[in-house]
Amino acid sequence: AAAATPLKSIAPFPIGTCAMTGHFDDRAWVDLCLTHCSQITPEWEMKMEYILSETGDYRWDAPDRIADFCTTHGLRLYGTTLVWYSQDSAYFRSLPRERFGAEYDRYIQTVAGRYRGRATGWDVVNEAVAEDGNGLRTCMWSEAFGQDGYIIRAFEQAKLADPDAVLFLNDYNLENLPTKGATFLRLVERLLKAGVPVGGIGTQSHLDIEIPAGQTAAFFRQAAQFGLPIHVSELDASLRSEGRIDLRSPRQRLEQQTARVAELTEAFMDLPQTQRFAFTVWGLRDTDSWLRRDARDDGKDSPLLFNAAGRPNPMFTAVADAIRAG
Ligand code: G3I
Repeated sequence: AAAATPLKSIAPFPIGTCAMTGHFDDRAWVDLCLTHCSQITPEWEMKMEYILSETGDYRWDAPDRIADFCTTHGLRLYGTTLVWYSQDSAYFRSLPRERFGAEYDRYIQTVAGRYRGRATGWDVVNEAVAEDGNGLRTCMWSEAFGQDGYIIRAFEQAKLADPDAVLFLNDYNLENLPTKGATFLRLVERLLKAGVPVGGIGTQSHLDIEIPAGQTAAFFRQAAQFGLPIHVSELDASLRSEGRIDLRSPRQRLEQQTARVAELTEAFMDLPQTQRFAFTVWGLRDTDSWLRRDARDDGKDSPLLFNAAGRPNPMFTAVADAIRAG
């Protein structure tokens, strides 16, 4: 079969993928990345879990290597994430309350400041909305600074650290769960009204292939109303059906997957150019996916654009066709 058309050559916006330093020694991965992508998001090595040690020391070897890979190959660097409920390091847990604010600000300023002028944008706060979409999560950060307070403070600190980076609020299941999408957009509205420097909306788009047609497009239409850049930040579409619709044959699951991914890509294409920040897949080959490292993996999932051998999956064609048709 003909080689897959380089996505970055047909897309009028950056095509991104996540990366970890281990990928850079994999020639096949590097070739696939440089053929199709123009942006990289560190999959985990720019997060607190990697950077901040239990004793409050910072380590930069891996994040710097990813930033250098981007510089070497002329790729945009996108950072995730400065503040995330699921990453409250032992260091912060050990801090006396009176030190908390200064260390919170220091972390954000140190990390975002280090990549100032190199990172095109940041997930400043990740996954603030409750799992079921009703209200916001409580976490160590909200306990310290209040429900909206920790989010406001994070954006203000990030703005100080890197005034030119686009500062995103990022979350998942916004298409899959309309209640959650609505709560997320109400949070964006509340922050903007309060003058918080939210510069973009990040929808992770870990698509549930069992959702009804139209739900994804509806979320994008609502999200577009703020006029902000939108980042499809972590696209994948697991074939594992959760049984909410009648159990489907592998062919039917693939049909659901390509239909949902096509709908998402078309919805992204329908955005004004100024609002198409980047279209990032959460991995290149199926075997690179976190889903294939997940305990529930059945060893057969095909949630990404390319198969283990780097050949295009039907999902690739769905994305490429929707971009061309745009
Ligand atoms: O590679 C090291 C290995 O050398 C070490 O032995 C092992 C045990 O410490 O860790 C391995 O690193 C793991 C890394 O994934 C690579 O597999 C980290 O522990 C693990 O925390 C990391 O998980 C990442 C996770 O976020 C938490 O940061 C996943 O790769 C990454 O795909 C996942 O991405 C998240 C997004 O940030 C937010 N949205 C959901 C998405 C999927 O969970």
